[in-house]
Amino acid sequence: MQHFDLPLKNRPKNIVVLTGAGISQESGIRTFRAADGLWEDHRIEDVATPEGFARDPALVHRFYNARRQHLQSDDVVPNPAHLALAEFDKAVSGQLLVVTQNVDDLHDRAGQAQLIHMHGELLKARCSVSGQVTRAPLVLDESMKCDCCGLSETLRPDIVWFGEMPMEMDRIYQALSCADMFISIGTSGNVYPAAGFCREANQVGACTVELNLEPSSTSSEFQYTFYGPAGSLVPAFIDYLKRLPIAG
Ligand code: APR
Repeated sequence: MQHFDLPLKNRPKNIVVLTGAGISQESGIRTFRAADGLWEDHRIEDVATPEGFARDPALVHRFYNARRQHLQSDDVVPNPAHLALAEFDKAVSGQLLVVTQNVDDLHDRAGQAQLIHMHGELLKARCSVSGQVTRAPLVLDESMKCDCCGLSETLRPDIVWFGEMPMEMDRIYQALSCADMFISIGTSGNVYPAAGFCREANQVGACTVELNLEPSSTSSEFQYTFYGPAGSLVPAFIDYLKRLPIAG
């Protein structure tokens, strides 16, 4: 049983949680930068950039279609880490915001109320001209025409690619500016702006905590670090937070 030795007198009231691929690993979704990770099989510039999509849309659609189909298979379900966060969210309503870099829907399915998908969502499609977002079919391809402009080449996965601005950054920085705790879960800390959130939180005096399988690229910036699989580490940490006294 992990011991969390943080000098907190009371439970934090404005908690921002950042999640990455590691939180979904035990649900059967591959991370990106592991030896068997998604980026081992694909060149990022081919499948995760606007230029790659312009060059070969069929390849990009195939890549995301395969991931979308896997996400909707019966064996991919939220694990105890997603469930513990969602349950805590209900208990502290309004005091917890989860910002995920993941494009899966496992936080949604767990029942997470306050949730930002900063890198987009696999289950959605977007018109690259109007920005209109619709539910993506299981297989999205070039034969499909966009609802709003009637063209096929404008319809793309609603995913933030390298070189593009992540979603809802104003809301995220606003939440970080008044956070008293920032928790980073299952991310390697290689991709900005998310990798800079710990620094933002430190600057406003928040307690910063990394929960990961191993030290990330930014682990030295966190005040507290705990290592282990998210499926057991996250529920244990949430349990620790729940037991802290609530400030009067
Ligand atoms: N529990 C906790 N952490 C885990 C687990 C687990 N079961 N399995 C792996 N991890 C950790 C790894 O040690 C690693 O530090 O999760 C992290 C996953 O890192 P990445 O594969 O780099 O994924 P992520 O940080 O989410 O990537 C950020 O980069 O590829 C782009 O847009 C993509 O959103 C993604 C972003």
